[in-house]
Amino acid sequence: MTSKENTAFLSTLQQRVSHPRLELPGPSSDQMANCYQAAFRAPDHAWLRPWRFVECQGAQRLAMGHLIAEAMQVDQPDLTPAQVDKLVNGPQRAPLLIICYAHLTEHPKVPASEQLLATGCALYSLSLALGALGFGSVWRTGASCYSRAVHSKLGLTEQDQLVGFLYVGTASAPDKTVPE
Ligand SMILES: Cc1cc2nc3c(=O)[nH]c(=O)nc-3n(C[C@H](O)[C@H](O)[C@H](O)COP(=O)(O)O)c2cc1C
Repeated sequence: MTSKENTAFLSTLQQRVSHPRLELPGPSSDQMANCYQAAFRAPDHAWLRPWRFVECQGAQRLAMGHLIAEAMQVDQPDLTPAQVDKLVNGPQRAPLLIICYAHLTEHPKVPASEQLLATGCALYSLSLALGALGFGSVWRTGASCYSRAVHSKLGLTEQDQLVGFLYVGTASAPDKTVPE
């Protein structure tokens, strides 16, 4: 990398912002493959490769919204219809929703916390790589990320832990200003 490119890279990191308002187009599968290559270079003690990414787009987002809403009603049976609607429609806030979880392995030197950190690094790298291709994203969690009922509806096991939902698309609002 030349020093000029280094400066551009540093400036990208310094100016990064989340994009809560996202619209079409989302990344193509070739673009995603390129971005995953960056994510998969996250630091990872003992090369356990704990990260998992599941993509939801098009009609899959509404199905995912229903799945999450149903599971959350198991945890919180007193959710109001408006709260249920919000959960159902949540995944449609962006053209692409990436569900990220860590698959945790027993290891004598690498505790689960390190595997979660590695997965967080991978998710962050993925968002930076998407940014480099011109796409916006925002990392969200919320109660559904920590719900056992959601984990189980998604088919995750006791060894898996949700790390976040990355909403991805084209930013539909100007970037906010980064504080000095
Ligand atoms: C682990 C994690 C979980 C987050 N969960 C949420 C969330 O549920 N809802 C939300 O609005 N922002 C959430 N955020 C924060 C946004 O991703 C974002 O960082 C924040 O809105 C600040 O904007 P900025 O990234 O442009 O500084 C989360 C961030 C992280 C790292």
